[in-house]
Amino acid sequence: MNRPLPRRFHVKSFGCQMNVYDGERMTELLAAEGMTTAASADDADLVVLNTCHIREKAVDKVYSDIGRLRRDDGSRPMVALAGCVAQAEGDEVVRRTRDVDIVVGPQAYHHLPDLVARAARGENAVDTDMPADSKFGALPARRRSGPGAFLTVQEGCDKFCTYCVVPYTRGAEISRPWAAIVDEAKALADAGAKEITLLGQNVNAWTDDSGRGLHDLIEAIALIPAIARIRYTTSHPNDMSDGLIAAHRDIAKLMPFLHLPVQSGSDRVLKAMNRSHDTASYLRVIDRVRAARPDIALSGDFIVGFPGETEAEFAATLDIVDRADYAQAYSFKYSPRPGTPAATMTDQIAPEVMDDRLRRLQAAINARQMAFNQATVGRRTSVLLERKGKLPGQWIGKSPWLQSVHLIGGAIGDLVDVDIVAAGPNSLSGEARA
Ligand code: SAH
Ligand code: SF4
Ligand code: F3S
Repeated sequence: MNRPLPRRFHVKSFGCQMNVYDGERMTELLAAEGMTTAASADDADLVVLNTCHIREKAVDKVYSDIGRLRRDDGSRPMVALAGCVAQAEGDEVVRRTRDVDIVVGPQAYHHLPDLVARAARGENAVDTDMPADSKFGALPARRRSGPGAFLTVQEGCDKFCTYCVVPYTRGAEISRPWAAIVDEAKALADAGAKEITLLGQNVNAWTDDSGRGLHDLIEAIALIPAIARIRYTTSHPNDMSDGLIAAHRDIAKLMPFLHLPVQSGSDRVLKAMNRSHDTASYLRVIDRVRAARPDIALSGDFIVGFPGETEAEFAATLDIVDRADYAQAYSFKYSPRPGTPAATMTDQIAPEVMDDRLRRLQAAINARQMAFNQATVGRRTSVLLERKGKLPGQWIGKSPWLQSVHLIGGAIGDLVDVDIVAAGPNSLSGEARA
């Protein structure tokens, strides 16, 4: 069945920051084709659902989102399923519902305009290839940016943690070339970016033919005058090189924040997860980072209820929360992912046990986070204003330690000197200095 080419599109992204970045690039790509953005899915004749497959609920949400795109008169927009669910389960989704017209994987989205044309002609529009040639070269130049910008420098993962879908949905580890990244950083700076977050599933594994590492890239980006702040995420403990640790001491624009997931405090569980680090090596890395940058805010990820996790092993996770002294951390219930080794392990943990452990872990993490936030009260620091707050004249920005700060005064994109006057569990209040 033929249908007209869509003119107004809406991209909805779920999951990690790399997906947010991909969503922005798809938006730019469709805009370069002459389509305009619609404020919501209701106003669009093409909706791109840029999905995440990391945990179960994400997929359920995709199905309910697809269902909700149907309108009262029974019509619906053209629907493109993108992202990691598209890669892992695109064929299955197309079998289960007739409400998806396009399936496009994370390495193939530069083909989106062509897929849209094919779908309009009523042709098959499924592309989950992982072509050797990078999609990045086929994307339009960056022309728009808020004060904080994402820049993907590395994609994919070769680590194969036994619980994780990312190596299957994003493919093998690749690093984008140096010049392409530096050019994109300059374009983002020209478009108004003040802070750049370098992204990768294993961002600190970034390297190139001449053996340069992420710290070299950070140094080069720090030379761009308009860029005041640099961050990077997510890092693997085994790839924290000496150079990167030293960069936290030597490069003033590199913000004092490190997201370094450990997943569990039990060495047996870490081994079963195939994490290739243990708790001792993890804590050693943190000690070295803190020696280089004493005020660093540490963040992490945890999984509770990995198959076979005993109460004592979970207690070891609570213990490492104290020993590592996190400023914030994310924690998740283990979710068996189809095709991963852990999904078929015996000793899957009962849901109520997972709920209990998650609650206790989150209480421990929240206490640390509150203490970290309270310790910033009384400090004068810089805040990058990113978006409007609820009150008149109020702005929400980020501290160097990635805390949200509310304050009155200034304008979007300003870096203001702020006295932190109060702390809550999830944000700080500040007063701008003249
Ligand atoms: N590359 C990063 C993060 C990848 S996914 C890293 O290695 O640290 C983000 C987080 O989701 C992981 O750190 C992990 O804590 C969580 N996660 C991944 N797979 C999961 C699963 N099957 N069940 C529950 N949480 C999971
Ligand atoms: Fe997943 Fe492990 Fe790779 Fe992180 S390092 S993306 S958790 S396989
Ligand atoms: Fe989700 Fe894919 Fe990112 S599974 S977390 S969107 S890499």
